[in-house]
Amino acid sequence: MNEFKPGLEGVVAFETQIAEPDREGGALRYRGVDIEELVGTFHYEQVWGLLVDESFDPGLPEPEAYDPKHLSGDAPADLQAETAHLSGEWSLRKLVDVTPEEARDDLARLSAQMMSIVAQSARVADGHGDPVSDDVVAEGETAADKFLLRWRGEADPDDAKAIDTYWICTAEHGLNASTFTARVVASTGADCGAAMSAAVGALSGPLHGGAPARVLPMLDEVARTGDPESYVQDKLARHERIMGFGHRVYRAEDPRARLLRRTAKELGSSRFEVAEELERVALAALREYKPDRPLETNVEFWSAVVLDVAEIPHELTPAMFACARVAGWSAHILEEKRTGRLIRPSARYVGPGARPASSVGGTLVPS
Ligand code: COA
Repeated sequence: MNEFKPGLEGVVAFETQIAEPDREGGALRYRGVDIEELVGTFHYEQVWGLLVDESFDPGLPEPEAYDPKHLSGDAPADLQAETAHLSGEWSLRKLVDVTPEEARDDLARLSAQMMSIVAQSARVADGHGDPVSDDVVAEGETAADKFLLRWRGEADPDDAKAIDTYWICTAEHGLNASTFTARVVASTGADCGAAMSAAVGALSGPLHGGAPARVLPMLDEVARTGDPESYVQDKLARHERIMGFGHRVYRAEDPRARLLRRTAKELGSSRFEVAEELERVALAALREYKPDRPLETNVEFWSAVVLDVAEIPHELTPAMFACARVAGWSAHILEEKRTGRLIRPSARYVGPGARPASSVGGTLVPS
């Protein structure tokens, strides 16, 4: 009962009806629907609806007019700060004080606005001081089109398809670190802006949301040397991780990697061949390196290649991931509101035994 599991691996903390990563079979289903069936048929904004409302309609709304004041161009930091700020700006009420329907509406407003904030932050990073007018943005049909229009003032159809596919594939994935964070904050009864901004912070680390940013430099290096074998062997000899491989849940191929690999090929990615070669070499080397632990390609490896088709700068990839995850976070915050109780695990104390303060280093200040 009280066995310590580092990293909580395998510990069941919740029951959920939202997504089912099928660990052995390498499939991912949102509310029972395989993502293979979603990509190419539905757009991200409808998938948001599937995850949050269990219905494709009405889906993710348009963002309302809002002018973020303090964008630095560092998208994850902007997103985290601005999302927290929206709690005050919109006077969002605490989750304990609202109905599930009101919480759902707060989450819809926040989700739409968060995607808009990322697009605007990316525009600042590109050196544009002026926002794109709402009329131009309204010309886009899908959330991905509108994201690109708000960022660049134009939306190439292939770029939009790359982003839409990436967002659908990464919209939700069970109890990862950022979703757990969102649920922990929601379980305290805090408002939805607090829960969403905390999730953004958790997602910004390279072991969770930031890996694609580290995949492209790796592909560049391999393209430059033309020698994936040495690259991989050198990394493993230094006990470094090869970004884009390994997963806490899947022991088979990550189904999202499969879909994104296909999309990268369809969209004619110029990095496809290098990526495929590095993948082949890395998988073979990892099998030898850790024969007892399957380390397969994960979502972030092929995400990097697909996002590169849309010329997403690698610094922006954690925020692109956050745009996708607003769906999963919203669904989990709502589920937590409906079914959860305050999350409060325990820690086993392994520090020093009882001792006098005088045994601690440092100056004692006389009282
Ligand atoms: N490259 C090389 N070695 C790896 C590896 C990788 N990508 N992923 C795991 N390993 C090794 C670890 O070094 C560890 O070896 P050790 O027991 O000798 O220390 C062993 O495999 C188990 O790793 P562990 O960190 O316990 O697995 P995890 O389930 O906690 O890790 C990840 C999951 C995703 C954090 C991990 O695989 C990783 O860091 N991958 C690279 C980053 C990445 O792609 N992140 C995106 C995830 S979607």
